[in-house]
Amino acid sequence: MSPSAVNEILQGLSAPEKYISSKYFYDDKGSAIFQQIMEMPEYYLTNAEQEILAQQAAEIITETGFDGPFNVVELGAGDGSKTFELLSYLDSANREVTYVPVDISKAAIDGLAADFTKRLPRLKLNPKVGDYFEVLKDRLQSESNPSLLLFLGSNIGNYMPADALNLLRLFHQNMAAGDALLLGADLQKNPEVIRKAYDDPHGITRNFNLNLLDRFNRELNANFERDQFEFYCYYNPLSGEVRSYLVSLTDQIVDLADEQIRFKKDELIWTELSKKYSFQELEGMAQTAGFEVKKHFLDTRSYFTNSLWIKSD
Ligand code: AVI
Repeated sequence: MSPSAVNEILQGLSAPEKYISSKYFYDDKGSAIFQQIMEMPEYYLTNAEQEILAQQAAEIITETGFDGPFNVVELGAGDGSKTFELLSYLDSANREVTYVPVDISKAAIDGLAADFTKRLPRLKLNPKVGDYFEVLKDRLQSESNPSLLLFLGSNIGNYMPADALNLLRLFHQNMAAGDALLLGADLQKNPEVIRKAYDDPHGITRNFNLNLLDRFNRELNANFERDQFEFYCYYNPLSGEVRSYLVSLTDQIVDLADEQIRFKKDELIWTELSKKYSFQELEGMAQTAGFEVKKHFLDTRSYFTNSLWIKSD
């Protein structure tokens, strides 16, 4: 881990209300556990989004208004499984598309490129490894063809409201007039459905959270004892927020990167926000960031939306 990452972690664990950024979930082990989460029946988000992209691809593309060649730029593409449906529709409709998957993980991008070359041999691929803000700038501003930017999987929900808005503003700044953004967002719904997706009966999300401690032991010379912490999460239907925590089960001192971190019994470490939106909130964010909302595409249960926003000026 970089020195700035170590500082950020130490800062979070020294704060009066301790926290760890959820971006640290995703080491190789954590990414593998996240795959298991996506396969759980309780974690409805992945299937809902896949259903939307599989069944409404034609209408999504029609609503972009793109009639010639265009780019599909996906931020945080991972293995590209969600986007395959959309690209395979574009292939069957003989649309001229360049797919630009962007991910911080080289392994994920290499795997995706190999897979898509085999399954969609006509697709033009321009994969990018790296921080997606840099990639975004180069790509969207120097392109003569319009771009459809994909930010899927409810990733926006892991940002605090102010950060989510800043991110959307940044997308807007780096897009050209007429470019489109397809945003995957989880919707507010029956609270029990949401609670079960996170407080899952298999203990997979628990393991996902506890893996943070194992990761710090492996990479930061820490000595967390996994069984001295427990996972806790709750959904607040009034705010639309799932908040996840690790709870210290005892008074304890943990070494981490040459520092000592003190925990009181029952003290919390906040590990993640997973925000669920109302349409009103989504539309407010779109407007504040300068977008026009074209349409919300929903799954059959209205659990999830892929919302199409256009940069109009
Ligand atoms: C990646 N992100 C959108 C997931 C979510 O739903 O917030 C991560 C996750 N955390 C617990 N389960 C899934």
